[in-house]
Amino acid sequence: MTVPTPDARPHPLFTEEGSAEVVVDAFADTPDPRLRRVLTSLVEHLHAFTKDVGLTQVELDAAIDFLTRTGHACTDVRQEFQLLSDVLGLSMLVDALDHRSGTASATESTVLGPFHMVDSPPRALGDSIALAPGGEPTMVTGEVVGPEGEPLAGAVVDIWQADEKGFYDVQRPDDVPERNLRGLFTCDAHGRFHFRTILPAPYPIPDDGPVGQLLSATNRHPYRPAHIHVIAGAEGYRPLTTHVFVEGSPYLDSDAVFGVKESLVLPFDESRDADLAAEHGMPVPFRHAHLHIVLGR
Ligand code: BEZ
Ligand code: FE
Repeated sequence: MTVPTPDARPHPLFTEEGSAEVVVDAFADTPDPRLRRVLTSLVEHLHAFTKDVGLTQVELDAAIDFLTRTGHACTDVRQEFQLLSDVLGLSMLVDALDHRSGTASATESTVLGPFHMVDSPPRALGDSIALAPGGEPTMVTGEVVGPEGEPLAGAVVDIWQADEKGFYDVQRPDDVPERNLRGLFTCDAHGRFHFRTILPAPYPIPDDGPVGQLLSATNRHPYRPAHIHVIAGAEGYRPLTTHVFVEGSPYLDSDAVFGVKESLVLPFDESRDADLAAEHGMPVPFRHAHLHIVLGR
């Protein structure tokens, strides 16, 4: 006697013409409505795509091999699938969809990236986050406000960046102190913050794995324009994950991960203001950037 399995949902036999419908039907009993919707659309688009390009068995095998190698390239400190999502523009698209209903005046968001892998150390306003020699002295000042311009006292600003050679601390642990070029700042009573650093350089995203092979096979470079990462938050306001890009940097118009937005490109002008330099403990000349961060609700 055969025992019927409880989930034996019969479905029509597979045909080329009706392929998507047959598979969608097989998922029709998915209890979670959101999962059912996502799987239905995924199958419909995947089958339409496969027919559109006339995918061959050799190509499917190559794609499976690529995804297998992408998985094998992942470690505790490297997420190759995240990189794949980034270079396909998927990360930026999901970020845009997530912010469709946000406060219009809020500072624009962009990708988080994979280098926020360690906690930033709390630092006092005015501290330097540059713990190793080298680089162009840079002062960053700014304020965090709400949608009506109200200063957000006690807002927290988390900063991380690459150095003058384009490396994050975690990429050269033997050469620089831990947590170099990272800092967690708490804004003053007027929502203001300031810190000392160096000018970041453009750098390539990790390109020695399958994603790098994809970029080189398609004549795409792996570089990102010079930037400083920022996560800003204040109680009762929507947290913001963004960057400030250095005006004039190479690759602003060809960022490998599509993260650039015009409103996020800021001047890091050279200043020879001796009074300002003395006030902040900067050498003359120094670069200065000012960040006006607006959080939404
Ligand atoms: C970054 O800016 O740290 C980054 C973003 C996406 C991919 C790789 C790096
Ligand atoms: Fe970065």
